[in-house]
Amino acid sequence: MVWMAKNNHKEILICIVGSFLLWVYFNLYKENIKIIERTKVFRAGHGNIAKVQERPNVENKTDIPNIYIVTATYSRLAQKADLTRLSYTLRLVPNIHWIVVEDADNKTELVRNFLFNSKLQFIHLNKRTPNVKNRWEIRGISQRNEAVRWIRQFAQTPGVVYFADDDNTYDIRIFEEMRYTKNVSVWPVGLVAGLRYEAPKVSNKKVVGWHTSFPRKFSTDMAGFAVNLQLLKNITSVEFRASAPPGHHETDFIQQLGVELSDLEPLAANCTKVLVWHTRTQKPNVNNESKVHQDKNYTSDPIEV
Ligand code: UGA
Ligand code: MN
Repeated sequence: MVWMAKNNHKEILICIVGSFLLWVYFNLYKENIKIIERTKVFRAGHGNIAKVQERPNVENKTDIPNIYIVTATYSRLAQKADLTRLSYTLRLVPNIHWIVVEDADNKTELVRNFLFNSKLQFIHLNKRTPNVKNRWEIRGISQRNEAVRWIRQFAQTPGVVYFADDDNTYDIRIFEEMRYTKNVSVWPVGLVAGLRYEAPKVSNKKVVGWHTSFPRKFSTDMAGFAVNLQLLKNITSVEFRASAPPGHHETDFIQQLGVELSDLEPLAANCTKVLVWHTRTQKPNVNNESKVHQDKNYTSDPIEV
Protein backbone atom coordinates (compact mmCIF):
# COMPACT_ATOMS: atom_id res chain seq x y z
CA MET A 1 0.00 0.00 0.00
CA VAL A 2 2.79 2.33 1.06
CA TRP A 3 4.77 1.32 -2.02
CA MET A 4 1.76 2.06 -4.31
CA ALA A 5 1.31 5.53 -2.84
CA LYS A 6 5.01 6.26 -3.29
CA ASN A 7 4.92 5.02 -6.86
CA ASN A 8 1.86 7.16 -7.60
CA HIS A 9 3.71 10.20 -6.35
CA LYS A 10 6.58 9.33 -8.65
CA GLU A 11 4.26 8.97 -11.65
CA ILE A 12 2.50 12.22 -10.88
CA LEU A 13 5.88 13.96 -10.56
CA ILE A 14 7.05 12.51 -13.89
CA CYS A 15 3.78 13.68 -15.44
CA ILE A 16 4.19 17.24 -14.11
CA VAL A 17 7.85 17.53 -15.17
CA GLY A 18 7.04 16.00 -18.56
CA SER A 19 4.16 18.41 -19.17
CA PHE A 20 6.34 21.32 -18.14
CA LEU A 21 9.10 20.28 -20.54
CA LEU A 22 6.55 19.85 -23.34
CA TRP A 23 5.14 23.29 -22.58
CA VAL A 24 8.63 24.87 -22.70
CA TYR A 25 9.45 23.06 -25.94
CA PHE A 26 6.16 24.12 -27.55
CA ASN A 27 6.66 27.75 -26.61
CA LEU A 28 10.23 27.82 -27.87
CA TYR A 29 9.02 26.27 -31.13
CA LYS A 30 6.26 28.88 -31.46
CA GLU A 31 8.78 31.69 -30.82
CA ASN A 32 11.09 30.26 -33.44
CA ILE A 33 8.31 30.14 -36.04
CA LYS A 34 7.43 33.77 -35.21
CA ILE A 35 11.06 34.82 -35.76
CA ILE A 36 11.27 33.01 -39.08
CA GLU A 37 8.02 34.63 -40.24
CA ARG A 38 9.23 38.07 -39.28
CA THR A 39 12.55 37.70 -41.12
CA LYS A 40 11.69 39.34 -44.43
CA VAL A 41 13.69 40.39 -47.41
CA PHE A 42 13.04 43.82 -48.87
CA ARG A 43 13.99 44.66 -52.40
CA ALA A 44 14.93 48.29 -52.68
CA GLY A 45 13.86 50.37 -55.68
CA HIS A 46 17.11 50.01 -57.58
CA GLY A 47 17.56 46.34 -56.94
CA ASN A 48 19.52 46.43 -53.69
CA ILE A 49 18.64 43.66 -51.34
CA ALA A 50 18.79 44.28 -47.66
CA LYS A 51 17.87 41.70 -45.10
CA VAL A 52 15.60 42.81 -42.32
CA GLN A 53 16.84 41.03 -39.28
CA GLU A 54 15.15 40.02 -36.13
CA ARG A 55 16.54 41.43 -32.94
CA PRO A 56 16.47 39.01 -30.05
CA ASN A 57 16.73 41.64 -27.34
CA VAL A 58 13.94 44.09 -28.22
CA GLU A 59 10.51 42.75 -29.11
CA ASN A 60 8.73 44.36 -32.01
CA LYS A 61 5.28 45.46 -31.02
CA THR A 62 2.31 45.60 -33.33
CA ASP A 63 0.52 48.40 -31.53
CA ILE A 64 3.12 51.19 -31.75
CA PRO A 65 4.18 53.22 -34.82
CA ASN A 66 7.41 52.39 -36.64
CA ILE A 67 10.42 54.68 -36.48
CA TYR A 68 12.44 54.99 -39.69
CA ILE A 69 15.90 56.29 -38.82
CA VAL A 70 17.87 57.68 -41.76
CA THR A 71 21.64 57.80 -41.35
CA ALA A 72 24.05 59.04 -44.00
CA THR A 73 27.55 57.69 -43.50
CA TYR A 74 30.91 57.91 -45.22
CA SER A 75 34.24 56.15 -45.08
CA ARG A 76 36.64 57.60 -42.48
CA LEU A 77 38.73 56.39 -39.56
CA ALA A 78 36.04 56.83 -36.91
CA GLN A 79 33.17 55.53 -39.03
CA LYS A 80 32.83 52.13 -37.38
CA ALA A 81 33.21 53.64 -33.91
CA ASP A 82 30.48 56.19 -34.60
CA LEU A 83 28.16 53.60 -36.14
CA THR A 84 28.76 51.23 -33.23
CA ARG A 85 27.76 53.87 -30.71
CA LEU A 86 24.63 54.75 -32.63
CA SER A 87 23.65 51.11 -33.17
CA TYR A 88 23.87 50.40 -29.45
CA THR A 89 21.50 53.28 -28.80
CA LEU A 90 19.05 52.02 -31.41
CA ARG A 91 19.11 48.51 -29.94
CA LEU A 92 17.29 49.89 -26.96
CA VAL A 93 14.33 51.09 -29.03
CA PRO A 94 11.50 48.84 -30.31
CA ASN A 95 10.08 49.04 -33.85
CA ILE A 96 13.14 50.75 -35.29
CA HIS A 97 14.07 50.45 -38.96
CA TRP A 98 17.55 51.78 -39.59
CA ILE A 99 18.16 53.04 -43.12
CA VAL A 100 21.89 53.44 -43.54
CA VAL A 101 22.97 55.16 -46.75
CA GLU A 102 26.63 55.09 -47.66
CA ASP A 103 28.15 58.05 -49.47
CA ALA A 104 29.83 55.74 -51.97
CA ASP A 105 29.48 54.32 -55.46
CA ASN A 106 29.27 50.84 -53.98
CA LYS A 107 28.33 49.44 -50.63
CA THR A 108 31.39 48.63 -48.54
CA GLU A 109 32.17 45.36 -46.81
CA LEU A 110 32.79 47.24 -43.59
CA VAL A 111 29.27 48.67 -43.39
CA ARG A 112 27.66 45.52 -44.75
CA ASN A 113 29.29 43.32 -42.11
CA PHE A 114 28.68 45.89 -39.43
CA LEU A 115 24.94 45.97 -40.19
CA PHE A 116 24.58 42.20 -40.34
CA ASN A 117 26.18 41.97 -36.90
CA SER A 118 24.16 44.84 -35.48
CA LYS A 119 21.06 42.82 -34.52
CA LEU A 120 18.98 45.71 -35.86
CA GLN A 121 16.39 45.78 -38.60
CA PHE A 122 18.23 47.64 -41.29
CA ILE A 123 18.11 48.74 -44.89
CA HIS A 124 21.50 49.20 -46.54
CA LEU A 125 21.66 51.67 -49.43
CA ASN A 126 24.31 53.77 -51.13
CA LYS A 127 24.32 57.04 -53.02
CA ARG A 128 27.40 59.07 -53.74
CA THR A 129 27.41 62.84 -53.25
CA PRO A 130 28.16 64.43 -56.66
CA ASN A 131 31.69 65.69 -57.19
CA VAL A 132 30.90 69.39 -57.06
CA LYS A 133 32.86 72.30 -55.62
CA ASN A 134 30.63 72.67 -52.56
CA ARG A 135 30.58 68.91 -51.92
CA TRP A 136 31.22 69.39 -48.20
CA GLU A 137 28.30 71.81 -47.86
CA ILE A 138 25.86 69.29 -49.28
CA ARG A 139 27.10 66.28 -47.28
CA GLY A 140 24.29 63.94 -46.33
CA ILE A 141 21.82 65.42 -48.83
CA SER A 142 21.93 62.80 -51.61
CA GLN A 143 21.95 60.01 -49.05
CA ARG A 144 18.92 61.31 -47.15
CA ASN A 145 17.00 61.75 -50.40
CA GLU A 146 17.84 58.19 -51.41
CA ALA A 147 16.42 57.01 -48.09
CA VAL A 148 13.28 59.13 -48.55
CA ARG A 149 12.73 57.46 -51.95
CA TRP A 150 12.98 54.05 -50.29
CA ILE A 151 10.68 55.13 -47.49
CA ARG A 152 7.98 56.36 -49.88
CA GLN A 153 8.01 53.00 -51.59
CA PHE A 154 8.40 50.53 -48.76
CA ALA A 155 7.93 52.02 -45.29
CA GLN A 156 4.90 50.87 -43.39
CA THR A 157 2.52 53.27 -41.68
CA PRO A 158 1.86 54.27 -39.00
CA GLY A 159 5.31 55.66 -38.52
CA VAL A 160 7.71 58.55 -38.29
CA VAL A 161 10.91 59.51 -40.09
CA TYR A 162 13.99 60.92 -38.35
CA PHE A 163 17.33 61.97 -39.86
CA ALA A 164 19.99 60.84 -37.41
CA ASP A 165 23.57 61.66 -38.33
CA ASP A 166 26.06 59.00 -37.32
CA ASP A 167 28.15 61.07 -34.92
CA ASN A 168 25.44 62.63 -32.72
CA THR A 169 24.36 61.47 -29.26
CA TYR A 170 20.77 60.40 -28.64
CA ASP A 171 18.89 59.87 -25.37
CA ILE A 172 16.50 57.00 -26.14
CA ARG A 173 13.58 58.93 -24.63
CA ILE A 174 13.49 61.13 -27.74
CA PHE A 175 12.48 58.12 -29.84
CA GLU A 176 9.44 57.36 -27.70
CA GLU A 177 8.41 61.00 -27.93
CA MET A 178 8.83 61.33 -31.71
CA ARG A 179 7.08 57.99 -32.40
CA TYR A 180 3.64 59.63 -32.18
CA THR A 181 4.40 62.68 -34.38
CA LYS A 182 1.23 63.79 -36.20
CA ASN A 183 2.88 66.17 -38.70
CA VAL A 184 6.25 67.60 -37.71
CA SER A 185 7.64 67.45 -34.18
CA VAL A 186 10.54 69.54 -32.86
CA TRP A 187 12.79 69.70 -29.78
CA PRO A 188 16.05 71.24 -28.57
CA VAL A 189 19.46 70.11 -29.86
CA GLY A 190 22.47 70.49 -27.60
CA LEU A 191 25.90 71.80 -28.60
CA VAL A 192 25.01 73.35 -31.94
CA ALA A 193 25.02 76.72 -33.74
CA GLY A 194 27.77 77.96 -31.44
CA LEU A 195 25.41 77.59 -28.49
CA ARG A 196 24.89 75.30 -25.52
CA TYR A 197 21.69 74.40 -27.30
CA GLU A 198 19.39 75.60 -30.07
CA ALA A 199 15.66 75.19 -29.33
CA PRO A 200 12.09 76.01 -30.26
CA LYS A 201 10.54 78.66 -28.02
CA VAL A 202 7.23 77.43 -26.66
CA SER A 203 4.29 79.32 -25.22
CA ASN A 204 0.99 77.65 -24.26
CA LYS A 205 2.24 74.39 -25.78
CA LYS A 206 2.76 76.08 -29.19
CA VAL A 207 6.05 76.90 -30.92
CA VAL A 208 6.27 80.68 -31.19
CA GLY A 209 9.91 81.19 -32.21
CA TRP A 210 13.44 79.93 -31.79
CA HIS A 211 16.32 80.20 -29.38
CA THR A 212 19.12 80.45 -31.93
CA SER A 213 22.18 82.35 -33.06
CA PHE A 214 21.30 81.85 -36.71
CA PRO A 215 17.63 82.69 -37.42
CA ARG A 216 15.82 80.76 -40.14
CA LYS A 217 12.09 80.16 -40.56
CA PHE A 218 12.56 76.78 -38.84
CA SER A 219 15.77 77.21 -36.87
CA THR A 220 16.43 73.58 -36.18
CA ASP A 221 19.23 71.16 -36.84
CA MET A 222 18.75 67.87 -38.68
CA ALA A 223 18.68 66.19 -35.25
CA GLY A 224 15.89 68.43 -33.96
CA PHE A 225 12.81 67.34 -35.89
CA ALA A 226 10.83 64.30 -37.06
CA VAL A 227 8.19 63.94 -39.77
CA ASN A 228 5.08 61.79 -39.86
CA LEU A 229 5.57 58.99 -42.39
CA GLN A 230 2.18 59.43 -44.05
CA LEU A 231 2.81 63.16 -44.52
CA LEU A 232 6.12 62.39 -46.25
CA LYS A 233 4.39 59.81 -48.43
CA ASN A 234 1.58 62.22 -49.31
CA ILE A 235 3.74 65.11 -50.50
CA THR A 236 5.89 63.27 -53.01
CA SER A 237 7.87 66.31 -54.13
CA VAL A 238 9.51 66.98 -50.75
CA GLU A 239 13.26 66.43 -50.71
CA PHE A 240 16.50 67.92 -49.42
CA ARG A 241 17.63 70.50 -51.95
CA ALA A 242 21.33 70.99 -52.61
CA SER A 243 20.39 74.47 -53.86
CA ALA A 244 19.42 75.61 -50.34
CA PRO A 245 22.16 77.75 -48.76
CA PRO A 246 24.43 76.09 -46.16
CA GLY A 247 22.61 75.67 -42.87
CA HIS A 248 19.20 76.06 -44.54
CA HIS A 249 18.64 72.46 -45.58
CA GLU A 250 16.46 71.64 -42.57
CA THR A 251 14.27 74.75 -42.83
CA ASP A 252 13.92 74.32 -46.59
CA PHE A 253 12.81 70.71 -46.11
CA ILE A 254 10.27 71.53 -43.39
CA GLN A 255 8.85 74.44 -45.41
CA GLN A 256 8.13 72.09 -48.30
CA LEU A 257 5.97 70.01 -45.94
CA GLY A 258 3.51 72.89 -45.87
CA VAL A 259 3.53 73.42 -42.12
CA GLU A 260 3.59 76.69 -40.20
CA LEU A 261 5.32 77.44 -36.91
CA SER A 262 2.07 76.92 -34.99
CA ASP A 263 1.64 73.44 -36.53
CA LEU A 264 4.86 72.15 -35.00
CA GLU A 265 4.54 69.68 -32.13
CA PRO A 266 6.94 70.62 -29.32
CA LEU A 267 8.42 67.56 -27.58
CA ALA A 268 10.94 67.02 -24.77
CA ALA A 269 8.77 68.56 -22.05
CA ASN A 270 7.68 71.54 -24.15
CA CYS A 271 11.25 71.89 -25.43
CA THR A 272 12.72 72.38 -21.96
CA LYS A 273 14.99 69.33 -22.11
CA VAL A 274 17.96 68.43 -24.28
CA LEU A 275 17.70 64.79 -25.38
CA VAL A 276 19.91 65.04 -28.48
CA TRP A 277 23.41 66.45 -28.81
CA HIS A 278 25.20 67.54 -31.96
CA THR A 279 28.43 65.94 -30.83
CA ARG A 280 31.17 65.66 -33.41
CA THR A 281 33.83 63.02 -33.33
CA GLN A 282 37.34 64.42 -33.32
CA LYS A 283 39.43 63.40 -36.32
CA PRO A 284 41.71 60.64 -35.00
CA ASN A 285 45.46 61.14 -35.06
CA VAL A 286 47.19 58.21 -36.76
CA ASN A 287 50.44 60.01 -37.52
CA ASN A 288 52.54 57.21 -36.07
CA GLU A 289 51.26 54.58 -38.50
CA SER A 290 54.17 55.13 -40.88
CA LYS A 291 56.67 54.56 -38.05
CA VAL A 292 55.42 51.09 -37.16
CA HIS A 293 55.12 50.13 -40.80
CA GLN A 294 58.80 50.82 -41.35
CA ASP A 295 59.33 47.61 -39.41
CA LYS A 296 59.55 45.05 -42.20
CA ASN A 297 57.97 42.34 -40.04
CA TYR A 298 54.73 44.29 -40.22
CA THR A 299 53.30 43.04 -43.47
CA SER A 300 49.69 43.88 -44.04
CA ASP A 301 47.23 45.59 -41.74
CA PRO A 302 44.63 42.90 -41.12
CA ILE A 303 42.59 44.37 -38.29
CA GLU A 304 39.57 46.35 -39.39
CA VAL A 305 39.14 49.40 -37.18
C1 UGA B 1 25.80 69.57 -39.54
C2 UGA B 1 24.34 69.30 -39.26
O1 UGA B 1 24.13 69.07 -37.91
C3 UGA B 1 23.94 68.10 -40.02
O2 UGA B 1 22.67 67.64 -39.64
C4 UGA B 1 23.99 68.49 -41.43
O3 UGA B 1 23.74 67.36 -42.21
C5 UGA B 1 25.34 69.00 -41.79
O4 UGA B 1 25.89 69.92 -40.85
C6 UGA B 1 25.20 69.73 -43.08
O5 UGA B 1 25.66 70.84 -43.15
O6 UGA B 1 24.59 69.21 -43.99
P1 UGA B 1 28.04 68.13 -39.16
O7 UGA B 1 28.39 67.45 -37.89
O8 UGA B 1 28.78 69.34 -39.53
O9 UGA B 1 26.47 68.40 -39.14
O10 UGA B 1 28.10 67.13 -40.40
P2 UGA B 1 28.61 65.61 -40.46
O11 UGA B 1 28.22 64.88 -39.25
O12 UGA B 1 30.03 65.61 -40.85
O13 UGA B 1 27.76 65.08 -41.70
C7 UGA B 1 26.36 64.87 -41.62
C8 UGA B 1 26.02 63.44 -42.01
O14 UGA B 1 26.40 63.22 -43.36
C9 UGA B 1 26.74 62.40 -41.17
O15 UGA B 1 25.88 61.32 -40.88
C10 UGA B 1 27.89 61.96 -42.05
O16 UGA B 1 28.32 60.64 -41.85
C11 UGA B 1 27.33 62.17 -43.45
N1 UGA B 1 28.36 62.54 -44.44
C12 UGA B 1 29.30 63.47 -44.16
C13 UGA B 1 28.35 61.92 -45.68
O17 UGA B 1 27.50 61.07 -45.95
N2 UGA B 1 29.31 62.26 -46.60
C14 UGA B 1 30.29 63.18 -46.33
O18 UGA B 1 31.15 63.44 -47.22
C15 UGA B 1 30.28 63.79 -45.09
MN1 MN C 1 27.95 65.49 -37.30
